Amino acid sequence: ERIKIFSPATVANVSCGFDVLGFCLDSVGDEMVIRKTSEKGIRITKIEGSDLPFNPEDNVAGVSALALYNYLKPDCGFEIEIYKNIKPGSGIGSSSASAAGSVFGINELLGKPLSKLQLTKYALKGEALASGSEHADNLAPAIFGGFTLVRSVNPVDVLQLPTPNDLYTTLIHPQIEIKTSEARAILPNEVPLSNAITQWSNVGSLVHALHTNDYHLLSKTLNDIVVEPYRKQLIPEFDKLKTEVINAGALGCGISGSGPSIFALSKGKAKATEVEKVMQNVYEKTEIPFYTFVSKIN
Ligand code: HSE
Repeated sequence: ERIKIFSPATVANVSCGFDVLGFCLDSVGDEMVIRKTSEKGIRITKIEGSDLPFNPEDNVAGVSALALYNYLKPDCGFEIEIYKNIKPGSGIGSSSASAAGSVFGINELLGKPLSKLQLTKYALKGEALASGSEHADNLAPAIFGGFTLVRSVNPVDVLQLPTPNDLYTTLIHPQIEIKTSEARAILPNEVPLSNAITQWSNVGSLVHALHTNDYHLLSKTLNDIVVEPYRKQLIPEFDKLKTEVINAGALGCGISGSGPSIFALSKGKAKATEVEKVMQNVYEKTEIPFYTFVSKIN
């Protein structure tokens, strides 16, 4: 018995929703093949596309698989093959794709004993290994799809939010590596109350905009005055790119997860493609290698 999985890339934070909001990409992700074996335990038998450890205890997909395995104690084992298309350290949920894929696949092969929410709990163990903190804002959209809001991590609670029909994202990945742990370490421990008020007003309004299909409101909510001012210093040309992307008519633009990828949201594929050209123009003037893509949110 075997299963082949597409494990999607995700954008966490979505500007104002640090550690809480996230969405799932339609067309970009890793592939994994998981096989049931008579020999017990978890083995990683193949990794392509990235130089990651084979020892399950040191591997994000392995750690989450082991957490689930030790809980379910099935009468069999599993072999995992990982085909990475999402580069670790790119800011589009590479570790979450691995962590989510292994628990999802094992659960399917065992006849789905656990809910998506329970899977999120075990996948968090893998995510914590990668980033040093248990946040589920990439895992939740990878497991549930579309837009999600992580209401609580302990215990895990996830809300699925509606996705407007014609919403597309454009991403640019400048190929410098930013470790999530480092991008978290530079953040302040305290937020001034006036900034907190602006931020939670934006998060609430963003959720309302998704529920009401209100693109105009959505565009007004895509701001982050808590985290972005610190992290944008790690990303060359961030301000310039953001200004040009907004001038080109995107609904919003911000850091994808902990960076260095930058995302924009647009209404319609044509606008998202126009925005992609704007991003390319800005980065072509630098020495930094990059790639870009457009994806529907799904
Ligand atoms: N919410 C997380 C962060 C996502 O921004 O640090 C990155 O994994």
